[in-house]
Amino acid sequence: MKTLIVFYSRTGCTRTAAQALAAQLGADLEELKETADRSGPMGYVSAGRDAMTKRPSVLLPTTRQPADYDLVIVGTPVWAFTMCPAIRTWLSREAAQIRRAAFFCTQGGSGAERTMQHMEQLIGRPPVARLTLCDKDIRAQACADALAAFAAACGKL
Ligand SMILES: Cc1cc2nc3c(=O)[nH]c(=O)nc-3n(C[C@H](O)[C@H](O)[C@H](O)COP(=O)(O)O)c2cc1C
Repeated sequence: MKTLIVFYSRTGCTRTAAQALAAQLGADLEELKETADRSGPMGYVSAGRDAMTKRPSVLLPTTRQPADYDLVIVGTPVWAFTMCPAIRTWLSREAAQIRRAAFFCTQGGSGAERTMQHMEQLIGRPPVARLTLCDKDIRAQACADALAAFAAACGKL
């Protein structure tokens, strides 16, 4: 089964999870980048504002076509109780090209459930698997079991 993992990461947690999943599944990785500068305190403020107002991102060109894959795993940090703008923009653009989707979110403490609902609304159907991870657990390298279970669920599809 061909699997693509598409993700955005501002501070590395979602990237760490995406890379671990890619290694376990033999999946291709697509990291989304935007023209907006999200670094520092000003970047944090713009990130929260743009997520809350659903402002689209200007994405740098991507290289992978979701239609080429049996499964697309989409990973986002939770920003203001929803997905980050880069993922919202990419999902809106590519929804029709995704055969089967799985979602994972990384968060500080809350908002993943609402985030997954918003992602599901964008693709118009439920994901085949979901995973929520906390940033502090990723940094403490305490997510191996959760990642392995999610990868196993995705791998069985
Ligand atoms: C602008 C902004 C808003 C955030 N909002 C939330 C939130 O609503 N709920 C939450 O649990 N964590 C929130 N966080 C924390 C991130 O979801 C969390 O640290 C995530 O793992 C970061 O992923 P990354 O390191 O891949 O960027 C927010 C972070 C940022 C930068």
